[in-house]
Amino acid sequence: MVSQLVEAPKSGEVRDYKMLVGGEWVDARSGKTFESVNPYTGRAWATVPEADDDDVDQAVRAARAAFDEGPWGKMTGTERARLMRRLADLLAENAQEIAAIESTDNGKLLREMGGQLKALPEWYYYFAGAADKVQGETIPSDKPNFFVYTRREPIGVVGAITPWNSPLLLLTFKLAPALAAGCTFVVKTAEQTPASTLEFARLFDEAGFPPGVFNVVTGYGPTTGRALVRNPGVDKVAFTGSTETGKQVMKDAADHLAKVTLELGGKSPQIVFDDADPEAVANGVVSGIFAATGQTCIAGSRLFVQKGLHDELVERLAEKAASIKLGDPLEMETEMGPVAFREQLEKVQGYIETGTREGAELVRGGKRPDAPALRDGFFMEPTILAGVTNDMTVAREEIFGPVLSVIPAESEEEVVRQANDTPYGLAAGVWTKDIQRAHRVAHALRAGTIWVNSYRTLSFNAPFGGYKQSGIGRENGLESVNEYTQTKTVWIELSGETRDPFTLG
Ligand code: NAI
Ligand code: MG
Repeated sequence: MVSQLVEAPKSGEVRDYKMLVGGEWVDARSGKTFESVNPYTGRAWATVPEADDDDVDQAVRAARAAFDEGPWGKMTGTERARLMRRLADLLAENAQEIAAIESTDNGKLLREMGGQLKALPEWYYYFAGAADKVQGETIPSDKPNFFVYTRREPIGVVGAITPWNSPLLLLTFKLAPALAAGCTFVVKTAEQTPASTLEFARLFDEAGFPPGVFNVVTGYGPTTGRALVRNPGVDKVAFTGSTETGKQVMKDAADHLAKVTLELGGKSPQIVFDDADPEAVANGVVSGIFAATGQTCIAGSRLFVQKGLHDELVERLAEKAASIKLGDPLEMETEMGPVAFREQLEKVQGYIETGTREGAELVRGGKRPDAPALRDGFFMEPTILAGVTNDMTVAREEIFGPVLSVIPAESEEEVVRQANDTPYGLAAGVWTKDIQRAHRVAHALRAGTIWVNSYRTLSFNAPFGGYKQSGIGRENGLESVNEYTQTKTVWIELSGETRDPFTLG
């Protein structure tokens, strides 16, 4: 039997949402709300509560109570896994509707979000499989009268902060391992995209989770988000967003020594050697920078190309960029949707101006499209800047939009040096048919994920995270469960004899 719990948005509808706290749907206690804007129409389509410190504290207390006192804390990993699999089934049954909600909130293509939402249940199945394997070790004691073992215990209450670009995917990277570990959870969604997480929250009760295991608060970053990070009841903060905000989050978490994982920005290089297949490269580059309107942390925004392929590749990319179909994100033939919100569009425009002012050549795009159907949305043409040098602003700062910077490359050694000359280290692409060079360069690049002859591929079982200022810790893969646990060591005295109290035993 299919449980249809979520309805796709209807045209012209304005939804009023409440937050999920301790299993209840609640308004902010102040009664304050704010609007979520559909970036395709430019109009508000939902209202959500604006949580203040007290509302956040209420949610953290609910998560704490669920952890300390509720049935969740006493469940075995096998029981948690059963609930997680049920959640995954419900997610699969409601994937299409939730994808439409997410597209309406952030303007990402239904084509992409539909695929993402269909894949998401796999995360819960995979981490359900990990829930009964969160295990310690027995330690061969160096003292003959002791038996020593460790337990991996859940860290407690997780406070998660998610961004607007892929709200549920980036929530899932945190939530699935946290549930496997036995934690409880409060998420503050991005102010631009609260709706899909609130719809997803409907599934928890139906799946059989006790109240308070999963809580959602909505509001702005510097107020609601900061209140969550600073709340001393939060044992671990899991954040995805900009590097600047990530640094603030880490400082705030330090005040009460909460553990942090941070998934931050990037300025990821795509390195193309002369022997690469130009058509495969061109598609890989497009997927890295124009898919999702360039609004991904892993955007392949710096394209280094050796001389032999440079002109041909720039030409191919310009042709491909020209043929990209901009339009309604809910239509399946659309290839690129709008930028997610007005300020982001203005930021992207500002970077293109800075790029040309600093001497980059505008090969294609650079302005807002003038088709009447695209006038209301926050659209930007796919943009290619050539003749960029690695010290220009457009090569150093994360733009988070459909803007590619092409940098001519020389030797392998020099291109690796330039690719690594960035404060970021999230991902990189290497394009070559030379297997020795592929491995050599993959090892030399300082980034958390390297794709060889591919780009923008992720999985629940492959660790993901940043070097340098792109982050701390890893999401996905079995090791991510460790980010939500802590180790307890238990010493058992075996002889029953007494000891000299003035020596270290
Ligand atoms: P942001 O990092 O400020 O926001 C991300 C999340 O953090 C949101 O939920 C926000 O409400 C929250 N937040 C903001 N300030 C906070 C604080 N002091 N304490 C706790 N939570 C806080 O990113 P924003 O403003 O959405 O976008 C700015 C730029 O950041 C973008 O233009 C883009 O360059 C980058 N960005 C990168 C992302 C990535 O995945 N690497 C995701 C989103 C943005
Ligand atoms: Mg911000």
